[in-house]
Amino acid sequence: MRHLLSTKSLSRVEAITLLDIAEDMADVANREVKKLPTLRGKTVVNLFFEDSTRTRISFEAAAKRLSADVINFSAKGSSVSKGESLKDTAQTLAAMGADGVVIRHPASGAPQVLAGSGWIDAGIINAGDGTHEHPTQALLDAFTIRRRLHGTASRGRGLDGVTVTIVGDILHSRVARSNLWLLDTLGAHVTFIAPPTLVPADTSAWPATIGYDLDAAIDAGPDVVMMLRIQAERMNAAFFPNSREYSRRWGLDDERFSRLSSHSIVMHPGPMNRGLEISSAAADSDRSTVREQVANGVSVRMAALYLLLSGDREDS
Ligand code: CP
Repeated sequence: MRHLLSTKSLSRVEAITLLDIAEDMADVANREVKKLPTLRGKTVVNLFFEDSTRTRISFEAAAKRLSADVINFSAKGSSVSKGESLKDTAQTLAAMGADGVVIRHPASGAPQVLAGSGWIDAGIINAGDGTHEHPTQALLDAFTIRRRLHGTASRGRGLDGVTVTIVGDILHSRVARSNLWLLDTLGAHVTFIAPPTLVPADTSAWPATIGYDLDAAIDAGPDVVMMLRIQAERMNAAFFPNSREYSRRWGLDDERFSRLSSHSIVMHPGPMNRGLEISSAAADSDRSTVREQVANGVSVRMAALYLLLSGDREDS
């Protein structure tokens, strides 16, 4: 694998291989055993043009646990704020010998541009581009679901027959899109529940059921309920009902949480708006995988860095 830009382009074999390598990395990711020497001498640049807590920190932890050197670049405080282009930024990183670039950018498609540009010869990992994709988030979500379902017997498995209901701001969510493609590839069935104004105009090519009634979706007893953040920074007032109305109709409040099937798990990629899309009782319960998702993110990102940078890179 040369780059990791989207889940739409991942085959089932590639996705399961990555999840299985993440299983192999888990003891190191969780610091139960020492770091591995696998990427000694390699340099990974975290190139973040948008804010991040979980993704940036876990890529840094993942790279360090594989013994890579890590350079953290934030657009704030850099020469980007003086107007420097993505091309000149990339060529600066190339001159510093970057082997891998983890990029988050507000423009959908920026990681693809970087990967196809010739400005830098490095493995590119998409850490979230606009409203397009966030592939490592979907991979860590799939890893978390698989572990909850199958525990230590997870290796080699997909998510065949698993029902996943994803709720909230689908329109602006790169997490929703990456999960849609990956979960479908792994055999799960996805239902999206959202206000009509927060569903894209054309979803005819999406392998998903679209609905607007969260109570009916909960009564259907899905295996997974994944709540999404309202992305206020990407919308204007016309899209958004109001906080009280949104929470009443599309929030996982205490009453809805109490009606979940006994086997259902609750997921959220973070950051959470507690009291808006999810109550604290739901977020902090034993059913919630929020903290597991963060911990599993290090294993999954170690697997991605290993596949791209350990010498087995193929043109694909
Ligand atoms: N889930 C996620 O991408 O979180 P951050 O924005 O904190 O990286």
